[in-house]
Amino acid sequence: MKYNFDKIYNRKNTGSLKWDMMENIFGKDDLIPLWVADMDFPVAEPIKKAIKKRADHPFYGYTQAKESLIEAVCHRLKNKFNWKINPNWIVFTPGVIPAINLAIRSLTSPGDRIILQEPCYHQFFPAIKNSGCQVVNNQLKLSDGRYKIDFHGLESLFHPELGHSPYYKPIKAMIFCNPHNPIGRVWDREEITQVGEIALENNLTVISDEIHGELLFNGNKHVSFATISPEFESNSITCISPSKTFNLPGLNISTTIIPNNKLRNEFIATQIGLSSPNLFAYTALEAAFRDGDEWLEEVLKYLHGNLKLLNEYIDKIDGVNIIKPDGTYLIWLDFRDLNMDGKTLKSFLENEAGIALEEGSLFGESGNGFMRMNIAVPRPLLEIALKNIGNALKE
Ligand SMILES: Cc1ncc(COP(=O)(O)O)c(C=O)c1O
Repeated sequence: MKYNFDKIYNRKNTGSLKWDMMENIFGKDDLIPLWVADMDFPVAEPIKKAIKKRADHPFYGYTQAKESLIEAVCHRLKNKFNWKINPNWIVFTPGVIPAINLAIRSLTSPGDRIILQEPCYHQFFPAIKNSGCQVVNNQLKLSDGRYKIDFHGLESLFHPELGHSPYYKPIKAMIFCNPHNPIGRVWDREEITQVGEIALENNLTVISDEIHGELLFNGNKHVSFATISPEFESNSITCISPSKTFNLPGLNISTTIIPNNKLRNEFIATQIGLSSPNLFAYTALEAAFRDGDEWLEEVLKYLHGNLKLLNEYIDKIDGVNIIKPDGTYLIWLDFRDLNMDGKTLKSFLENEAGIALEEGSLFGESGNGFMRMNIAVPRPLLEIALKNIGNALKE
């Protein structure tokens, strides 16, 4: 291994949300932070080198994406997801959540409805509500420890005869998260196809959040929504980003791929007035996509080792179960057998185990009794956290 991910770095006083905001958010600054999706691993060398090189050039003027960066994005999509895109489809955005906000505003009128599937990433809720729209939840179904899409539920949203009032405002889009945060499912081709067909039948645009698409366990394969068919491609807004894969969320960059000219023009018109990503973000994105794979392979191996460790520990702890993830480094832990309400569970884990996790109910009501754990941390730190949970529960 070229990188030493076991090393615990001191990230305090670096402006890190994960480490420096703990006091504000959890009321304590000495917890082991396993919450926000930010890895405690040092950045890939080629990215650091590229930023330093660019910083040495004494001009930091207005910036736009270089041809070589656009080529790097096209090449990555072809190489990783077998998606051949036209460079004109790319819109650079300052993050996936900003892109989803823009997408919703470009697709809707106030009051329109947007589908999401709870439990889901909590930032989807304000993205919908702050755009003046309403959330429609097509609840994921948990059976035998695995989440599935409720296709009947999805279809029934469009059929008044199945119990839906015709007076509701139209449903304009669906946020489809694949891999799905927080439950770690990588949806398979068949599931994606069913979602896409329901969307086409009902004039629904699919906003496909694929930010975790390169973070996969055990040979799972990410199928990008738009690659299923030209019809799906034309009915989609796909959000990809180096920020989870290469741990660059502080740089604020993502790429939004919009093949359909009308959808893209409306998205760009909504974006006018907002700043584009900054020059170091463009530099980092190109370096990550071109030269980041050695680091990424090592990270994926390391995460696999962390997942194994987590499984070993959790197996020995009564009352806690892991929802087996296909991908992402965010693990959905089921504490429901402990019969604690969400708030009590959260304060128990903070006060008795000394760890900061994300409370399940943040991801929707059905998340009550669950917690989301970020395992992208040095293994020695994860081991302390797991021992603490075991000891706290024994006591
Ligand atoms: C599914 C998903 N989408 C979007 C984001 C945030 O993306 P960004 O920081 O680029 O806005 C996250 C962060 O954890 C996420 O898990």
